[in-house]
Amino acid sequence: MADDHTDVDEHTLRRAAGAVWCARHRFELEAASRFARLSEDLSRLGAHQAVLALTREAVVDETRHASQCSELVSYFGETAPTSSSMSTDRTSPSGLTEREAVLYELVSMACVTETLSCALLGALVEQAKDSKVRQVMHEILRDEIRHSRLGWAHLESESLALPCKLLADYLPAMLAGTVNEELFVERQALAIEEPLSGLGSLTRRQRVELFSDAMHKVVFPGLERYGVDTAQGASWLDKRFSPPHPRDCDGTKPTAS
Ligand SMILES: [Fe+2]
Ligand SMILES: [Fe+2]
Repeated sequence: MADDHTDVDEHTLRRAAGAVWCARHRFELEAASRFARLSEDLSRLGAHQAVLALTREAVVDETRHASQCSELVSYFGETAPTSSSMSTDRTSPSGLTEREAVLYELVSMACVTETLSCALLGALVEQAKDSKVRQVMHEILRDEIRHSRLGWAHLESESLALPCKLLADYLPAMLAGTVNEELFVERQALAIEEPLSGLGSLTRRQRVELFSDAMHKVVFPGLERYGVDTAQGASWLDKRFSPPHPRDCDGTKPTAS
């Protein structure tokens, strides 16, 4: 357990960590539900067998991640949430064919969201101060890397038949759907952000930087390889995020607008 924090008492910190993992448990269940629905869609559409197999594996992985998150909630002394299945709505906009809608969802979920998850988890593993938390995050990271690859594999196979540049207009919506609006709200840094960063959470400043980096360095170049113009996505990012101030750890300077 972390022991190098002085401003936040241990009980408060453990409760906050339990809440972080409880929220993550829900995200993992949502991911399992989305991949389950997508695997049915892909099967119906006759998608590439390798993509279909990876999507089915992802359902199993995400369900396991939910259990691991639930165990961490208990580990931090909170009541573990149950892993009952949930239903999720489609995220694709209206007006697309079914095949285009599935491409939209897989790109949004796997290429964008899972790539971002990998960046966030990589940072979390690096700064973890609790061995159990580090082990769980490391295992989840290993799977999320595979999940992001399945999105790129589907885009590759669909790029032969669909005009993937149609994704360009939807890129801002995909990015907006990937992050919590809280990321854009200016506020003072919380005292608990720093100690909590060793137990599975990142400061808002870190999340802003990692999100922007992952989009500019991985997602946009990856999409451009398939003819997707990322200018609208880049413009959306520029409008939502101002450059981070180099010294805002005391909470006196907002990092994003
Ligand atoms: Fe996951
Ligand atoms: Fe995943």
